[in-house]
Amino acid sequence: MIEVQELKTTHKVIIGDSREMEEVEDESVHLIVTSPPYPMIEIWDDTFRKLDERINELWKKLEVESSNRDRIVREIYELMHENLAMVWRECYRVLVDGGIACINIGDATRSIGGCFRLFPNHAKVIEHCERIGFVTLPYILWKKPTTKPKYKGKGAFLGSGFLPPNAYVTLDCEFILIFRKGEPRKFKPKDELRYASAYTKEERDRWFTQIWEIAGVRQNHPEIERRIAAFPDEIPYRLIRMFSIIGDTVLDPFLGTGTTMKVAINLKRNSIGYEIDENLLPIIKEKVGITQKLLTQDYSVEIIKRVSQ
Ligand SMILES: C[S@@+](CC[C@H](N)C(=O)[O-])C[C@H]1O[C@@H](n2cnc3c(N)ncnc32)[C@H](O)[C@@H]1O
Repeated sequence: MIEVQELKTTHKVIIGDSREMEEVEDESVHLIVTSPPYPMIEIWDDTFRKLDERINELWKKLEVESSNRDRIVREIYELMHENLAMVWRECYRVLVDGGIACINIGDATRSIGGCFRLFPNHAKVIEHCERIGFVTLPYILWKKPTTKPKYKGKGAFLGSGFLPPNAYVTLDCEFILIFRKGEPRKFKPKDELRYASAYTKEERDRWFTQIWEIAGVRQNHPEIERRIAAFPDEIPYRLIRMFSIIGDTVLDPFLGTGTTMKVAINLKRNSIGYEIDENLLPIIKEKVGITQKLLTQDYSVEIIKRVSQ
């Protein structure tokens, strides 16, 4: 009989690039919960420019070119998703058979190359993941508190408030895409840890619906959390409870401030997180309880910095 209270978990923060996750063995992860930088959202432009020199060169070209701008923008968008797809391929490799990947991503709207348009990031991620071999499952729409509707890409209706036809629908939902590797996981009858991980009927009725209305809760570092679009604890909390059992291993290849790891610790799952920006390490340490010296016998956190950073 396994005593859940006595279960110890281990956690690894890897300061490095998740396009290659050599520290993680094949088929060793049960669940992925993550939110990548969103292509064509301005705050992430520099991240993609640093990740891929081809993207950097295309942005420079766009600054001076007056023709072919639309083609250049499309190339940048494709390359951004190719870089993310390198991570999705690694995710597929490290997941166990039946393991689940939950990817939170928002679409982008932007006036660029002279035209306001939508960049449907969620569709691109589904396309790439399908090609890799993932099975696509029904996804969740995370409805955020509404911002103002847009007119010609600007933040308001600019005086034409009620006149058709040139206003645009506001993007007030993000996607939580859900993929599975292969067939559903199998368990032995009456598996103790699986039963100990059960959700309630009320939780099931609330969580297994397609629209989640969750406000972004800001805690200790509102500025940084907003800058890197940290998700509220409630998102990984639900996903980890829905798609893993106690003692499983959860991976976040875009760890950010460490929200997924913090929740995994509280829910008695093991975890691994990759973050390319070393400046976030103090916040990660604080979130996972290292700096507050809350480290108990229950869990241990190892921090690995790649030499080739
Ligand atoms: C949207 S944020 C994640 C926020 C996170 N969910 C949280 O709650 O704090 C994306 C993060 O991915 C990191 N990142 C971007 N490309 C990366 C890569 N190739 N490898 C590892 N981390 C990366 C960025 O530095 C950023 O911190």
